[in-house]
Amino acid sequence: MSATIPGLSELSEVRVRLQACRHIVALTGAGVSAESGVPTFRDAQTGLWSRFEPEELATEAAFRSDPARVWDWYAWRRTLLATVRPNAGHEALAQFARRHPGRLSVVTQNVDGLHQAAGSDDVLALHGTLAGDRWLDACPLVQSGVAGCDPQEATAGHPPRCTTCGNLVRPDVVWFGEPLPEGVLARAGAAARDCDAMLVVGTSGAVYPAAGLAEIADAAGALVVVVNPAASELDRVAGVRLRGTSAAILPPLLDF
Ligand code: OAD
Repeated sequence: MSATIPGLSELSEVRVRLQACRHIVALTGAGVSAESGVPTFRDAQTGLWSRFEPEELATEAAFRSDPARVWDWYAWRRTLLATVRPNAGHEALAQFARRHPGRLSVVTQNVDGLHQAAGSDDVLALHGTLAGDRWLDACPLVQSGVAGCDPQEATAGHPPRCTTCGNLVRPDVVWFGEPLPEGVLARAGAAARDCDAMLVVGTSGAVYPAAGLAEIADAAGALVVVVNPAASELDRVAGVRLRGTSAAILPPLLDF
């Protein structure tokens, strides 16, 4: 992948346009974490799907048919994440929000927690969080009106399991075909409709409803700025395409 850094004059022009904005939304994807060492999903050689199709791993059906394989894939990703740190892109967003309270909304498809680790507050995590666990099925005890079993107390295993009701623990992420967390998508949609500019950073724009947020912002008249070293499916709604990496572009772009 070739990453040409946009000319300073192009960056400065976009920055001037952002300075006039009351509300900016950053819609981020795996690319924002690439420079922290987290593989993206679709990069041919190293991507997280390089050996499997998404449907083989990130679906409820995949988990039910081979819980150990799916659990171990997430366990590998958790181990990887334990060693990574936010990069200059995450930090530029968090620092901007500190300088301009209430002016930036961060909406992410990432489950890695790196925006939060950089200090971004109130991140709208559309696809959940890798750090969390929950039961695969509703706890039967809750259905009978008693306090449910706690996933934290599950017996260790691949995956951990409840010794009382046999329920399996699954990661608290959104799998293909599942609804996004209640309320989060609604808030992200409201932010997309309300913003004057949306920075679409490090996403292929291939997965909906997340990608649809850029279309909502565009239809509502916002300036859509795509930050990506390669072409993305959201280039068609971009008012500006900045070809480069998020860690190179976001710090100068948001330096006001
Ligand atoms: P993808 O792997 O599809 O796309 C990553 C994007 O980041 C590509 O467009 C790359 O060109 C770009 N990129 C790579 N390095 C970059 C860098 N340093 N700076 C900026 N951009 C860079 O990841 P997502 O679009 O996030 O969903 O994938 C969306 C969803 O698909 C994920 O949240 C996940 C996956 O299936 C679920 O798990 C539900």
